[in-house]
This record gives sequence, C-alpha cells and structure tokens, in this order.
Amino acid sequence: MTDVAGKTAFITGGASGLGLATAKALVAKGAAVILADVDGDGAEAAAELLRSDGAKALALQLDVTSEDSWAAAGAKAREFGPVRILFSNAGVGGGSGPFEEYDTEVWRWNYAVNAHAHLYACRTFLAEMKASGEASHLVITSSMVAIVPPPISVAYISSKYATLGIAMALRNELAETRVGISVLMPGMSATRIVETTRELRPVEVEVGKAAATSQAMQGVLAGGMSPDKIGARVVQAIENGDYWIFTHPEWKKMAELVTADMLGAFGTSADPEYRGDDIDGLIAANGGRMFGARI
Ligand SMILES: NC(=O)c1ccc[n+]([C@@H]2O[C@H](COP(=O)([O-])OP(=O)(O)OC[C@H]3O[C@@H](n4cnc5c(N)ncnc54)[C@H](O)[C@@H]3O)[C@@H](O)[C@H]2O)c1
Repeated sequence: MTDVAGKTAFITGGASGLGLATAKALVAKGAAVILADVDGDGAEAAAELLRSDGAKALALQLDVTSEDSWAAAGAKAREFGPVRILFSNAGVGGGSGPFEEYDTEVWRWNYAVNAHAHLYACRTFLAEMKASGEASHLVITSSMVAIVPPPISVAYISSKYATLGIAMALRNELAETRVGISVLMPGMSATRIVETTRELRPVEVEVGKAAATSQAMQGVLAGGMSPDKIGARVVQAIENGDYWIFTHPEWKKMAELVTADMLGAFGTSADPEYRGDDIDGLIAANGGRMFGARI
C-alpha cells in the first residue's frame, strides 16, 4: 500500500499506547480509524479527541479474546467503512516469578490476548481484505523480546514468540495476495502497559515479588521511547511495505549474539548417510513460498 489516505484502519488496543499513537499517525495522513479496545470508554474518549481535530474515527468496545465480541465489532466496523488496514496490536503483560509457580489463569489470558487473538482478527477481516483486490495491509505487534528474551515473564515472552511465528507463517501465506504484512518489534515504549495489565488481570492483584517486578517495570518503561514515534514508523512501514518494523536499533547487537549462538550450534548431520531434507519439495507440496517472495 503506497498511501494510507482514504483507507479505513481497524486497530486493537486502540485506546492507548502504540495502538492510539498509530491511529494518530494514520489520521494525520488522511486515513479513517476504528479504535477497538476492551476499554470502551477509553476508546470513545480517544476517538472523540481525534474527531474534534477533524478525523474520521469510530470507537468500539472489543474483547479480542472473545469470538462473539469480534463478530459484533466486525459488523459495526463494516458499517463505518471497508477495513483495508488491520492492526492486531492489543497486548498485556504476563506473570512473574518461577515458571512452575505461574497462575494458570494469567498464563491462558496472556496467550489469549497476545497470541490467539490474531486468529480472530484475521478471521474477521482478512478474507474481505483479500477479496477486495485492493492494496491492504496487516500489522501484528510482537516485541523485541521475541528475538532477544530478557529475564522477564515467560508467559509474555513466549506469547510474543508465538505472535512472531504467526506473522512469519502469514508472510508466506500472503505472499501471492495484495495484502501486505508487517510485524512490529518494539523495544521499550512509555505506554500504560503495566497499569493496563494490573487493571485487567483475571486474578487478584499482584503480591510479593510479582508486585515489586511490576512496579520496577513501570519505572523502566516510563523512560521508554515515545509511542508517537513508533506509531509514525508503523505508518511508514505500511506505506513502504516493510515486513520487519524494528524501532530500537540498540538491540541489534544482542540480536546478532542470539543468532550467532543459534547458527554456531548447527553441526554435521545426525545421519551422515542422509541426502538432506528436500526443502524445495516441502515448499512445493504446500504450494507456497518461504519468507514471502524472497526465497
Ligand atoms: N510498551 C512497550 O514497551 C512494548 C514493547 C513491545 C511490545 N509492546 C506491545 O505493544 C502492544 C500495545 O501495548 P502498549 O504498550 O501500547 O500498552 P497499552 O496498555 O498502553 O495499550 C494496550 C491496549 O490494549 C488493550 N487491551 C488489553 N486487553 C485487551 C483485550 N482483551 N481486548 C481488547 N483490548 C485489550 C488495553 O485496554 C490497552 O488500551 C502490546 O501487544 C504490547 O505487548 C509494547
């Protein structure tokens, strides 16, 4: 998509942080936006602010973990305009402490919001984006932690790896269509994610070490990059057709170390007699491509 002007964007987690910042950057370039968020009042307040500046903006209450909620939001979105930009972005933080002591509810909730919701998002809009024949674009928010995992929540990190995996696989699947795809890999940004996580957690408030970690993370993220800069970069990526959206180059050195560690572990074949996998055959059997159109 070379120009977002005149397009309608559906943004999950649109009431706050990176979702709202991207909405602002989109309307600045002449797009219409639908701010979908579990915080319906927050979404309405944000949409009202955008409308008061002359933007075309709609707020929808949406719980991204509920397929029924997606069906209702999808219907209302279609009345507003044909969605050609889908930003599947809502996310929450995970638990903390030793993995074996994780609260199962918090674990499931993390996966439901951060990973599983992308299926519902695509089920709601992707078919019509493809069928429109118009240039459309899907952006999925993963995180830098899905490449360089710091010692933070296993639930959060692994759900963001799942999200990156969804985007990588979809990149192949969408290669032959007019739907572009980007995966957003931010480092730290000064959003409300720690507070939102605290407010939305399905079980009782954090106590002990979990509370201390959450408090410390709030302080660390407060010094993070401005969400507005990231929102502007997302819009640039949509218009450029960039797949990777890396906003924090200071992580590159660590990414190189992680990749070198992995590549260094490739040794000789476990079966020296084996001719090697028929990778071309695997791709042909599935009628697809790998890494989009690049291989
Ligand atoms: N802030 C960072 O440092 C950072 C870094 C990397 C990735 N991310 C990712 O960016 C995305 C946006 O987070 P943010 O930092 O802007 O946080 P944020 O809390 O400011 O915004 C997230 C929004 O998602 C909404 N949300 C949460 N659960 C929802 C649900 N079930 N249904 C619908 N909406 C829901 C919240 O109400 C909130 O408005 C997330 O996926 C997050 O994991 C953030």
